[in-house]
Amino acid sequence: MKEIEKKTALIAGASGLVGNELLHYLLEGQEYERVTALVRSTLNMKHPKLEEKVIHFDEMEQQKEIFAVDDVFCCLGTTIKKAKTKEAMYKVDVEYPVQMAKLANDKGAKRFLLVSSMNANPHSSIFYPKIKGKLEEKISEIPFESISIMRPSLLLGERDEFRFGEQAGEFFYSLFSFLFIGPLRKYKAIQGRTVALAMYKIAQMNKRGIDIYSSEKIEQISMK
Ligand SMILES: NC(=O)c1ccc[n+]([C@@H]2O[C@H](COP(=O)([O-])OP(=O)(O)OC[C@H]3O[C@@H](n4cnc5c(N)ncnc54)[C@H](OP(=O)(O)O)[C@@H]3O)[C@@H](O)[C@H]2O)c1
Repeated sequence: MKEIEKKTALIAGASGLVGNELLHYLLEGQEYERVTALVRSTLNMKHPKLEEKVIHFDEMEQQKEIFAVDDVFCCLGTTIKKAKTKEAMYKVDVEYPVQMAKLANDKGAKRFLLVSSMNANPHSSIFYPKIKGKLEEKISEIPFESISIMRPSLLLGERDEFRFGEQAGEFFYSLFSFLFIGPLRKYKAIQGRTVALAMYKIAQMNKRGIDIYSSEKIEQISMK
């Protein structure tokens, strides 16, 4: 029997909540023979399929060969608290992903899978949904065979750092999760691991064109 050809993947944000879960799915699944993790400091992890590339993200252009893969997964992101300025946040949330996407597309990558956010809207008057909307717009202009955009609601999961807003949100959802039914289901908080699993599964579906996934849809795909 003919052996199925294995793919290669690149992941950015592999030290984060969604990215780290996704990295494990990519490494443990049968579909990928090599998984390159683009990081700014080492993950301190060993796996026969893992190729870690520690870089300064401002210098991506100088490492074009890294981007010659089949599937690209972008889980990058920061908070205004960490980034300190809107410009610095825009760089991480928009400029780096777009630059990665362009480099990967130039190198022949077929699929780009992105974590954006619920309510992403380039015309929003609120900074966070606005930059996520701009990000989606810019990525959608790049001619990949397939672009998959996750729009999760509040992400749940273990973090090393304390994020007051998210922890307060998590507490709220734990009390009132029964309210998030019917059309409100897309607002229900979602586990980072669930988003990661859906991304992994979507990448194997050989999709074409641009698809956007709400939290509700992400949950459904993760359970299939
Ligand atoms: N948190 C939520 O409730 C929520 C809701 C909806 C959507 N989202 C979006 O979902 C995505 C994933 O979220 P998450 O919670 O998994 O993110 P996260 O845990 O904060 O991880 C972010 C990743 O981005 C990397 N990163 C940050 N600044 C960087 C920089 N200057 N250079 C290179 N890498 C950098 C981090 O690397 P280091 O470890 O090196 O910092 C980390 O790997 C983000 O785009 C976020 O905006 C989040």
